[in-house]
Amino acid sequence: MINDIEKNNIRYVQNPNDQQINITPQKNDFASDKRILENLTIDPKLNDNSLHKFYNYPKYYDKAFTRDVKSDISFFKKCFQQYSDKEVKRVLEPACGPGMFLEILPEYGYFALGYDLNPAMVEYAKEKLKRSGLTANQADVIEGNMEFMKFDEKFDAAFICINSLGYLKSEEEISSHFKAMAESLKAGGIYIVEISCKCDDIKNEKKIDDTWYVKEENFDLELTWAINWYDLEQRIRHVDFHMIINDNGYKTEVEEAHELRLWIFDEFKQFLKSSGFEIVGIYNQNYEKIAENIPITGELGALFFILKKIC
Ligand SMILES: C[S@@+](CC[C@H](N)C(=O)[O-])C[C@H]1O[C@@H](n2cnc3c(N)ncnc32)[C@H](O)[C@@H]1O
Repeated sequence: MINDIEKNNIRYVQNPNDQQINITPQKNDFASDKRILENLTIDPKLNDNSLHKFYNYPKYYDKAFTRDVKSDISFFKKCFQQYSDKEVKRVLEPACGPGMFLEILPEYGYFALGYDLNPAMVEYAKEKLKRSGLTANQADVIEGNMEFMKFDEKFDAAFICINSLGYLKSEEEISSHFKAMAESLKAGGIYIVEISCKCDDIKNEKKIDDTWYVKEENFDLELTWAINWYDLEQRIRHVDFHMIINDNGYKTEVEEAHELRLWIFDEFKQFLKSSGFEIVGIYNQNYEKIAENIPITGELGALFFILKKIC
């Protein structure tokens, strides 16, 4: 909810935990700046074709893609206990977006570090962690590209959700990511990857109703995430994204294409093999284990692949 309070060019918004977080308007809250609203011009750093416009507005992403983070973390914890060779303390989240997991992981006793390509997401997540009273020893967030990002101080576990990995499209980018992750995890470390594979019957992937609405006291959003077509040869899902924003009476839209990797299970396994990971378990959205003899296709929905760093 946006409050009317505006002090020193800072607007106050509320995060899902109802804590106030301040967001510098030129980056994150274009509704507070008419020029930005009308022209959709934003910080030049963000006016970069490599960044999706939607992710320049973390406040709206946070509301539009809210999920039951605590259930997911409880599931991750069980996986860490079951599959990790060591007690998990340090957890990494590539492509962390607005930091919805980072904010909660310390409650479960983990140190959490997230990174994201988009500086607006990083700034928003940082502010959110600060407002939650978390110190950098409990949770932190930095800028980084998952294609290359690696860490000298290794992590016990990592996870990446909601098909964020799909933004790496080519074989080179994906292999580079898994190699960087293998270097960043301790031996026997766990990496949980949430993606959905290509459907056997690809027409099934088309959803009839892919528009949804978010209503808050002072703003409402209409969002459409429509898979438009598949490039089977290049392994790309082409998605048309459209968001209509009515924020405090100001109306604007974001319309853009998102290209994501079209995952095929056998290929996914190859990327892992060549970078030193093995699959130790696959789970569906109800956290139920998928039996080994079941074909892994998009018909099963988005899945959690539990990867273990070999040696
Ligand atoms: C669908 S959002 C997911 C955010 C978060 N993982 C979640 O579960 O809500 C995808 C995120 O991936 C980030 N992203 C895209 N390409 C990236 C890259 N190469 N490296 C790091 N982050 C990237 C975007 O900026 C965006 O925040």
